Amino acid sequence: MRTQVGIVGAGPAGLLLSHLLALRGIDSLVVEDRSRAYCEARQRAGLLEDGTVRLLREADLAQRLDAEGLEHGGIYLQFAGERHHLDFRDLTGGRTVTIYAQTEIVKDLIARRLADGGALEFEISSTAVADLDTDRPVLSYMTAGGERREVICDAIAGCDGFHGICRPSIPAGLLTVRDRAYPYAWLGITAEVPPSTDELIYNRHPEGFALHTMRTPQISRLYLQVRPDERLEDWPDDRIWAAFQRRFALPGWELKEGPIFDKAVTPMRSFVSSPMRYGRLFLAGDAAHIVPPTGAKGLNLAMADVTVLADALHALLLGDSRLADGYSDACLSRVWRATHFSWWMTTMLHVAPDADPMTEELQLSQLRYVTTSRAAATSLAENYTGYPPLR
Ligand code: FAD
Ligand code: PHB
Repeated sequence: MRTQVGIVGAGPAGLLLSHLLALRGIDSLVVEDRSRAYCEARQRAGLLEDGTVRLLREADLAQRLDAEGLEHGGIYLQFAGERHHLDFRDLTGGRTVTIYAQTEIVKDLIARRLADGGALEFEISSTAVADLDTDRPVLSYMTAGGERREVICDAIAGCDGFHGICRPSIPAGLLTVRDRAYPYAWLGITAEVPPSTDELIYNRHPEGFALHTMRTPQISRLYLQVRPDERLEDWPDDRIWAAFQRRFALPGWELKEGPIFDKAVTPMRSFVSSPMRYGRLFLAGDAAHIVPPTGAKGLNLAMADVTVLADALHALLLGDSRLADGYSDACLSRVWRATHFSWWMTTMLHVAPDADPMTEELQLSQLRYVTTSRAAATSLAENYTGYPPLR
């Protein structure tokens, strides 16, 4: 079998890349080891940067996003019993962010690829990539029906997430890895109750961080800082709501509760592996880098990577390798900015198990600074809405 670009993984990165390549007249095959239903239901990110929304509009993928997405012009920062609003529109000259769940983006992308006749294979197994240092790399796998396939490609995109097989297929010693695990995790819930807030609340509390976000006008999503080894069984719904009530408490404001229908613990780490290319294998999204979710950057970075990659592959297949040669550096400069911002937001808002009173005062000082200085608030707003703005 033959395709121009073999794409491993039907997450946001792999699916969007396949669509962007199709717009450039390049055919691709996306292979995914999970089922379509699983990919469409996996609860993850929810917040799109300004540039990501524009990218999806320009790629003609924003029909439902424009109808159902919730545009937000700022966030709240809560600490020391006070809640402050940061107005991104005012601080950045009109930039905003949009709540639209990753589940919906994945549904939209899969529907569009299938409608356009794109090749997508779910529930495959034994994925492998080979001959990466030649100009005919090979993607092999077992189909859901048990047939072994070998697909000769011009290039392979490793969009298979943090636990995928593409990054480990690069010969040992060629990658530089920067890795930091944080001493806390997020317990995330989705609940059937209208959000108690118009915009997201990031909250530093002596007990730990909490975030109030949302999915729709009827569905709330909330996150609670917990220990990395926390067991979900130890968190019945009433314990979760009681913790949120304590952390978000503010006179005159009420947190509404409702039935919880999704619950999971996510560990937090910063991880960057470079370069993002080996021969004709190009890594994109979580396959190459992970950020803690406090800055809401993971999904946006994945989509930014494949925007660069689509142009690089287009040129490469026409015989010009300059963009492909610059792919890794072009992505990594945005990745490191987002890695710093996510680390900064995370360490400003979470309570580490070994935190001393000095650390607490430093965090509170920084929070007071970003909520009183226009320069500091502008820096947060510029990074949160996406820096550098996606072209
Ligand atoms: P993924 O979405 O991970 O997609 C990779 C795909 O490859 C998957 O479908 C996987 O099944 C498939 N795959 C893996 N191995 C193979 C194989 N061998 N063969 C074939 N297919 C394979 N970001 C935020 O901004 N906010 C959040 O709240 C947030 N929460 C998160 C919670 C969790 C549990 C996780 C894991 C991530 C979260 N993120 C969050 C990050 C964000 O969801 C990711 O950055 C985003 O999904 C990256 O997209 P991707 O396409 O690069 O990778
Ligand atoms: C989400 O809506 O899931 C979300 C929003 C902002 C974050 C993290 C997660 O920083």
